[in-house]
Amino acid sequence: MARKVVLVGPMGSGKSTVGKVVANLLSLPFLDMDQIIEERTGADISWIFDVEGESGFRDREQQLLSELLDAHESCVIATGGGVVERDANRSLLSGRGDVVYLNASLSQLAQRTAKDKKRPLLQVNHPKQRIKELYQRRDPLYREVADHIIDTNAGNPKAVAQSIVSSLNY
Ligand code: S3P
Repeated sequence: MARKVVLVGPMGSGKSTVGKVVANLLSLPFLDMDQIIEERTGADISWIFDVEGESGFRDREQQLLSELLDAHESCVIATGGGVVERDANRSLLSGRGDVVYLNASLSQLAQRTAKDKKRPLLQVNHPKQRIKELYQRRDPLYREVADHIIDTNAGNPKAVAQSIVSSLNY
């Protein structure tokens, strides 16, 4: 049966970096949702937010999540940090068995995204405040869909990936 290891968590929690290593360790393809959305649209995420609004982006994200989870091959999927905002996405993710929440402290998240110019939600006057608001709203949502919660504060991507693989029972 096809298994999908799905990484969820805030911007800067390391989903893409760690996801690649997990995919390598498990010899599975790695799929990065933001990257796929950009490739299919032929535009970057900021452009999609500008032109279609956040809801246009969320529509694309929801459609892609459903497609990837339905597909028949096993893979590792890195989602975007806001994937849990929609009830429909949380229903798709809940109870799948291999959803991993990459958790990190607010100071780590702020540090890892400090120089970011690509994430539209962080291009504001007070990005740290935005990170905090998003975290407070979304942390319970990540927990709702997660089968495993992994702390990424201390470990490098390889160590984090290894603890994910050990928790997965593969
Ligand atoms: C978003 C996170 C981003 C990307 C978009 C919106 C969010 O993905 O999907 O900018 O709402 O948190 P990353 O978590 O990979 O940065």
